[in-house]
Amino acid sequence: MSLKIAILTDLHFSNNPVEDCPQRKGELSDVLLLRAVHRLNRWIKPDVTFIGGDLINDPVSPDAEDLLFFLKTSLDLLDSKTIIIPGNHDLPPEIFYKTFERPEDIIEVKGVRFLTFLDQEEPGYNARREQSGLDRMRAARAGFDGLIVSLQHVPLFPPEADCSPFNYTNAPEIISVMDECGITLSLSGHFHDGFAPLKWNNSTYFTAPALCEAPFRFSVIELEDDGSVKAETHQLALPLNSHLSDFHIHTRLAYCNENMKMPKALQLGQIFGLESMGFAEHSSHLYFSRDAYNAKKFYWDGINSPMMKDNTEDYLSLYKMYANEFSYIGMEIDVDRSGIPVINPELYKRLEFRIGAVHYMKSMLDASKRENEFMYLCNSMIKSGIDILAHPFRIFRRSNLAVPPHLFAPLVALLKENNVAAEINFHTNEPPLEFVKLCLESGVKLTFGSDSHNLYEVGEFYPHLKLLEAAGFNGSFEDILLKPFPRLQPANTGH
Ligand SMILES: [Fe+2]
Ligand SMILES: [Fe+2]
Ligand SMILES: [Fe+2]
Repeated sequence: MSLKIAILTDLHFSNNPVEDCPQRKGELSDVLLLRAVHRLNRWIKPDVTFIGGDLINDPVSPDAEDLLFFLKTSLDLLDSKTIIIPGNHDLPPEIFYKTFERPEDIIEVKGVRFLTFLDQEEPGYNARREQSGLDRMRAARAGFDGLIVSLQHVPLFPPEADCSPFNYTNAPEIISVMDECGITLSLSGHFHDGFAPLKWNNSTYFTAPALCEAPFRFSVIELEDDGSVKAETHQLALPLNSHLSDFHIHTRLAYCNENMKMPKALQLGQIFGLESMGFAEHSSHLYFSRDAYNAKKFYWDGINSPMMKDNTEDYLSLYKMYANEFSYIGMEIDVDRSGIPVINPELYKRLEFRIGAVHYMKSMLDASKRENEFMYLCNSMIKSGIDILAHPFRIFRRSNLAVPPHLFAPLVALLKENNVAAEINFHTNEPPLEFVKLCLESGVKLTFGSDSHNLYEVGEFYPHLKLLEAAGFNGSFEDILLKPFPRLQPANTGH
């Protein structure tokens, strides 16, 4: 049985940009961490997550303790066992561990022992392990024949291997104890480039790259029973030159928004490497009060509802304030019970793209009618002139119903005939693989949508890329993805 260990390290969180080291995006680390936490929980599912230190950038800044609190709220969301140690940029352990849980002397996860070391810092950003640390290594081995992992902030490696500019000043001594005690694995952070697993005698030495520097990496180690190690590095940014766009980003005007700030979303999209970004607010949220929306007035009454309260100009002016050369303005348009899009036809023309979505059906609980209604609403929507069909079939999944596979072919035919793209969207959703395959085979264009309601989701296409891989696609994205839309007017590049 293997043990999966995730390593997130060197966040250098800060309330302000790190001026003396601008490649450290410390001011975004809270978002980076949350994105990593959600990816780990939903897709990677490690047994244990090691947070390798330097959680904040400046331990003498007055906000240092406050910053730790914000990181803790995200770290508390981790499903796995979590082991957190401070680095040389953190507050001293006695203060640091007022916020976080101090690791026990020996932590056992699935029969593997983990030891954390808070070693003495040495000049030149190096460290030294004192005799008491070496004694703890020996004590962990006494009477135990399983695997042992050593966790510390500063990289440990044999000096002759020359893996990093930082090391332990007494590395040869520690390594001889590693050998003597058969400590299988050593995991560190601190050196922001990281280095690949180094096998030396019977142990493996690994340093994970910093989360705070592009492309915002973290590592996952598979530790096998025989002590062998496989390391995979993940990045939060999109693959270089992938030319991907996110055409489904919400704003603070969505009732379901969590923390969406348009300028910050744009900033994140750019650092994650999106080619373009499309804002697509719910039409039903812009035209109805929260109560009327919750009462599904958009569906029952449609665009001519007496309950309508038009907020669409607020949306357009919000966009205008922050729009840049990468951004597009669109809307996620609901449909009423007669199949009429919930949008004023005049506004329709002022958008650069339109996503159609089926979010509610009266027949959802009626097995004899729901498939007909679904196809009826999709058909009206697709023929109304939308560019993208949002999250096809999600409405079934959200009601805990099986997705009807016999509807894949007729929906694909409709999309194809009307030149409408199908969205791949994992927000509270698992797009059906067979449907995606059919779109690829039939030449129906696809789009990637994050459906961001929280900043950490912007351009998070990890599952989208995995899905295309699972569908057997290995060509160029340009051939299958919808291209950015024609401009309505010259973009405002003033920001
Ligand atoms: Fe460090
Ligand atoms: Fe939606
Ligand atoms: Fe949405």
